[in-house]
This record gives sequence, structure tokens and C-alpha cells, in this order.
Amino acid sequence: MDGNGRWATAKGWPRLVGHRKGAERVKEIVRCAPDLGIRWLTVYAFSTENWKRSTREVLGLMSLFARYIQREAEEMSREGVRMRFIGERKRLDPKLQDLMAWIEERTRNNTRLNLTVAINYGGRDEITRAIRAIARRVEAGSLPPECIDETVLTDALDTIDLPDPDLVIRTSGETRVSNFLLWQAAYSEYEFTPVLWPDFTPEVLADIVGRYGHRERRYGGVLG
Ligand code: FPP
Repeated sequence: MDGNGRWATAKGWPRLVGHRKGAERVKEIVRCAPDLGIRWLTVYAFSTENWKRSTREVLGLMSLFARYIQREAEEMSREGVRMRFIGERKRLDPKLQDLMAWIEERTRNNTRLNLTVAINYGGRDEITRAIRAIARRVEAGSLPPECIDETVLTDALDTIDLPDPDLVIRTSGETRVSNFLLWQAAYSEYEFTPVLWPDFTPEVLADIVGRYGHRERRYGGVLG
């Protein structure tokens, strides 16, 4: 969800105004996603690298996440949205961690849309943590090293309950992957749009999803 800062700065506003507008877009996209045939939606809200930002911006983002959970809990329950989080949680404020656990539990039986929010998430960090967990099992003698395969690693990731993404969309004209779902997106389609996240309307998403529908996916094989 890139481009919040630039969107606000271009209007002469503080960066946090862009993030607030960005949060409104998340809400709209969550609302329209099921009608576009999307059942799994993952949004990258805060990376392991985003701690380098000013304290003001980091705290502002954290309180935006907490507010989103509190304010949207009712509607998500009503609309059948199941909310989950990926990323390393221990560095987050304990109150935010509690809210995250609370909404995951509250929405766990919802099936219309699976919304995953990546907070303090980095693909490399996720893979490193997974390898550490696997190493502990090897050390304990419960996992012979020869049994480590792609499934063992996949199941040790934060995304254990999620399918691999079909399509990864990056906004704001940047054409980088920036540490997002590095393992899981091995065969994903990518879409880079110049639209800044605060301008990313349901119409923009519908257009991208429509074009995605015409792509030919071969997963390394040949067609036919
Ligand atoms: C990147 O744009 C965006 C972020 C680091 C924050 C994304 C957060 C939200 C949209 C807030 C709401 C999210 C939820 C799930 C409630 P940037 O600030 O790096 O933009 P720039 O490149 O223009 O500076």
C-alpha cells in the first residue's frame, strides 16, 4: 500500500493524513473484494524496515492499526470477514498484540473474505524465524534433516493457513518487491500501478483484476 506519504505531501499535509486516507481505502477495498471474486486479501501495512521512520510516524501508524481493529470489528463480523495478521508480533505494543489476538478470535468463523494484515512483516525475517523453528525441531531430535522439504518450510511460515498469492499488486509506481511474501510469491503474477494507495479505489482494483483474468499462468510448464 505504497504512496501514502507522497499523496499527503503533494497536498501540503502531514504524512499521517495520507496513512489515514490509506486506512479508509483498506476499508473500501475489503468491502468490494468479495464481489470481485477475491476470497483472500493480504495487505502490507508495516514492514520490518518501517521502524526506521520517525517515532511520530511509527506511533501514528500503530494507533491507526489499533483504531482500525476497534472500529471495523462490528462491520467485519457482519460482512463475514476473517481477520488475521502475519509478521513478528513481539516487538509490537502489548495492547496492540492483545487487540490483534482478540479480533482474530472474534472473526475466526467468518468465511466470506480472509483479510490478512502484514504488520512488522518482512519476507526474509519470516523465513529466518521459520528456519530457526525448524532447527529447534532438528535439535530436539523430532525432525531428521533429510525430512526437511518445501512443505516443512511452508508450514513453518506465518502464512501456514493461507494459499500462495495469485496476484501481487504494488501501488505508487515503484517496481520493487520490498520483502513481501518472498517465498509465497514464487509463482505469483505481479501488477505495478502508478496509482498512489490513497487513490486506489474499488474501480482501480476491478480493472486490475479484470486484466489478471486474461493472463496465462503456466507455473514453469507449457500450455495444453
Ligand atoms: C507505505 O507508503 C505505507 C505504509 C508504510 C503504511 C500503510 C498503512 C496504511 C495504509 C494504514 C492503514 C492500514 C490498515 C490495515 C488499517 P509510504 O508512506 O511509504 O508512502 P511514500 O512512499 O509515498 O512515502
